[in-house]
Amino acid sequence: MALLDILQYPDPRLHKVAAPVTAVDQRVRAIVADMFETMYAAKGVGLAATQVDIHERIIVVDTSEQRDQPLVLINPEIVRHSDERKEWEEGCLSLPGIYDKVTRPDSIRVRALDARGEAFEIDADGLLAVCVQHEMDHLEGRVFVDHLSTLKRSRIKARMRKRQRETQAA
Ligand code: NI
Repeated sequence: MALLDILQYPDPRLHKVAAPVTAVDQRVRAIVADMFETMYAAKGVGLAATQVDIHERIIVVDTSEQRDQPLVLINPEIVRHSDERKEWEEGCLSLPGIYDKVTRPDSIRVRALDARGEAFEIDADGLLAVCVQHEMDHLEGRVFVDHLSTLKRSRIKARMRKRQRETQAA
């Protein structure tokens, strides 16, 4: 297992669209293991393969308090979502320290493959629903700040660039 580097916004690679996984094999299971290790080490609740510069449709999530309910979704698809939408404050490991409100469907039903390649469906609401939708956005090359206004997004971009310059200088 290995810790992977997490791409930092506004890295253009965060906007690549991920390709479907064609076979859930040892190679994919190794990626999943590394993604979990990276997500837990960074204290995140979710991570998309896009964020570690692997452009395949894989996301890992754990929204539990005890950090003991790992969920992997390969080739996830939303098969149903509620009309009711809810606003949540979101953050992202690719934008440390940046939080803002995003409105999304309150509950969803997702179909995906698990780490053995078996198809399953899961109903999610609350934080889990937010998290899965946020991570699925990454697979489409969308970061949560893409839901915000252009003005807000350009301010965040400037802040991230400034911080990256400071880190490089240090
Ligand atoms: Ni994110």
